[in-house]
Amino acid sequence: MGEFDQLIPRRGTDSIKWHVKSNELPMWIADMDFKTAPAILKAMREKVDFGVFGYEEPQADYYKAVAHWYETEHHARPETNWMLYCTGVVPAISAVVQRISNVGDNVVVQAPVYDIFYHSIENNGRHVLSSDLVYDQQAHTYAIDFKDLETKLADPVSTLMILCNPHNPIGKVWSRDELIQISSLCQKHHVILLSDEIHGDLVFGEPAYTPLFSLPDALIQHTITTVSPSKSFNVAALHAATVIVPNENLRESVSRGINNDELGEPNLLAIPATIAAYTQSSDWLQALKAKLVENRQFVAQFIETRIPEVQLVSENATYLLWFDVSQVTDDAEKLTVFIREQTGLFLSAGTVYRGNGCYFLRMNIACPTNMVEDGLNRLKQGIEAFKK
Ligand SMILES: Cc1ncc(COP(=O)(O)O)c(C=O)c1O
Repeated sequence: MGEFDQLIPRRGTDSIKWHVKSNELPMWIADMDFKTAPAILKAMREKVDFGVFGYEEPQADYYKAVAHWYETEHHARPETNWMLYCTGVVPAISAVVQRISNVGDNVVVQAPVYDIFYHSIENNGRHVLSSDLVYDQQAHTYAIDFKDLETKLADPVSTLMILCNPHNPIGKVWSRDELIQISSLCQKHHVILLSDEIHGDLVFGEPAYTPLFSLPDALIQHTITTVSPSKSFNVAALHAATVIVPNENLRESVSRGINNDELGEPNLLAIPATIAAYTQSSDWLQALKAKLVENRQFVAQFIETRIPEVQLVSENATYLLWFDVSQVTDDAEKLTVFIREQTGLFLSAGTVYRGNGCYFLRMNIACPTNMVEDGLNRLKQGIEAFKK
């Protein structure tokens, strides 16, 4: 049995995902039911065995590890002096919202999108201005309406755009051309562009992931890219992220924001675990991706043959699958509550991601394939009962 086929019981740990009833199967929040890479565990053990845990700050080896990863995995080496450490991608986003925009400004997003973007914007007294992604009902794909995006960026009180690349929850990675267009529009209208690339390592085949910082120099001076080993290596509770800001003045501002909020100091495991991830865990990631591809194919076939009223929309990114359930309901929230009550399957309702999310469900398939199968059987049963 492969390492990604092992069912590791997580009930009774402090896992948010698994804080559910004994008959329930959680396939919602974005963490994986897999153990992290051996090299990361080894680095953590060595650190714990050392036993002295005073205040820390990342040194050159940390930043070199990040640069090395992007160079070897994604063919784009960010300068180490562009980087800032932060205790998470969401904390970095909130710090940027606070420091880079003003109360009452618009922050442009593309709904349906990761719901916490809305919290970071609205909890800080800014307005969400969405240039909704355009859904093609026939092809089951999403696209950017660049005309609409430009109109929204051109609004004088739009000062920041938060992009999700690859895009959670729709499972799509943006092409280099699309990134160039987005970045050019932001530059034209004096909007700072923050690209959340936490899912960047989880892209399967083509089109490949293009880090925003790999665009030509002139197109990255108003950009901030956030990356982290958290999704790729299942270390969300590590609370480690790197913020990449090529322009010195902007970087100073972002650094001030991170440090004002006291988000710049790593916990005792963040540095060794990140270095081990980025320098020794590429093979593990390849094996993980093979498992995720297998799970995606399993889901695609199951849905097509056994739940034909549901369509799989996700393209080639993330382990979060986006299902069109518009033939079943226009109230995804109601459907997820019903499915959970009837079958114990706990999915995310698309509604929280706004836009046309009320017609969609999101399922996390980063778990052993037999758990995915269990989830799909429950989904089928839940949908059939709901239709009655
Ligand atoms: C797009 C996106 N950004 C950020 C996060 C969370 O980042 P962090 O845990 O580093 O704050 C998630 C988690 O699901 C996510 O999907």
